[in-house]
Amino acid sequence: MSDQAFVTLATNDLYGKGALVLGTSLRNHKTTRQLVILVAPQVSNNMRAVLERIFDEVILVDVLESKDSAHLAMIKRPELGVTFTKLHCWALTRYSKCIFMDADTLVLCNIDELFEREELSAAPDPGWPDCFNTGVFVYRPSIATYNELLQVSTEEGSFDGGDQGLLNSFFSNWATADINKHLPFIYNLSSISVYSYLPAFKQYGADAKVVHFLGKVKPWNYSYDPTTKCVMRDGHDYSSVVHPEFLNMWWDIFTTSVLPMLTEHGISKDTTSSGNQELSCLVYALAFTCGLSFCRKEEKLSEAVSQLSFAPPAPVVSSEERRQKWEQGQADFMGVDSFQNIQKKLDAYLN
Ligand code: UDP
Ligand code: GLC
Ligand code: MN
Repeated sequence: MSDQAFVTLATNDLYGKGALVLGTSLRNHKTTRQLVILVAPQVSNNMRAVLERIFDEVILVDVLESKDSAHLAMIKRPELGVTFTKLHCWALTRYSKCIFMDADTLVLCNIDELFEREELSAAPDPGWPDCFNTGVFVYRPSIATYNELLQVSTEEGSFDGGDQGLLNSFFSNWATADINKHLPFIYNLSSISVYSYLPAFKQYGADAKVVHFLGKVKPWNYSYDPTTKCVMRDGHDYSSVVHPEFLNMWWDIFTTSVLPMLTEHGISKDTTSSGNQELSCLVYALAFTCGLSFCRKEEKLSEAVSQLSFAPPAPVVSSEERRQKWEQGQADFMGVDSFQNIQKKLDAYLN
């Protein structure tokens, strides 16, 4: 199957780490297809050397940026203008069909059956299900399509400032035209689904085939103790409060398969230095993975309900006592630690 490929993108070394975990997970589940990564000049030579070990092709591309700060502000992700770079994937015409996957996705089983789908197949976006999410999609490389997309990108731009808005406008009949182009949500299971439809998540979360760590906080923003399998941040160990199984899976692959290669190529193992994000973001992200892990263990299901029905703690990190209470499972869920309060704090933080 040398004319079909999984394709991802990294414009910098951090996303390169994500891509390495994704590539390793595809290899672990014995894909028979080629693995291709598009990299920007900003990706270091050392990182490229490691990527070469996992991917069949590492292709240098120029960065395409929307520079659309107004729309990017609406999704609170100013850094996502560079996702226009994804459009280069249509230029890979040596392949007849490809599956693009964000560098923050992880496959949990073999998903080669996706190559039976046609362009443009994708899963619904949890925020607006009549739009598809562009973290996972099936497409056919074509210079004609590539040129049209580049033209749209400069002339019309994107309604969210990133590739997803642009591609949804371009493949505008996705919602209604052909149900075969709607991938089941389990091929792109993203964090927001936990909160938007918890019962469905409990019912179907264990069937996930691809996890998408969608959102500002990525797995590589945490640190991990491989001996205790604890996910840590800012010196706090959250494993006694939540059970971040998918985050652990990501870190397991990272520490066992990726880190040794990075070290060999002289890339720093410090994965915790990506910014001073607040506790709120951490807990929010962990609550997602925690939910998934609970749901994969039937005996823990009722515990999952009780955990996930509650909100993460309000991000008043200055109050040591309040943090301790949360860690002991005694947060004030009906009061200061209510979901609304956390949402407000998150919004304020993200703004
Ligand atoms: N990406 C990248 N560099 C960046 C931002 C994004 O290479 O600075 C690529 C990467 O493949 C990433 C994808 O674009 O997975 C989409 O961005 P992200 O996953 O952060 O968006 P989200 O899924 O969280 O909305
Ligand atoms: C979405 C997608 C991501 C895309 C971004 C910007 O959140 O998950 O792949 O890059 O929107 O459009
Ligand atoms: Mn993503």
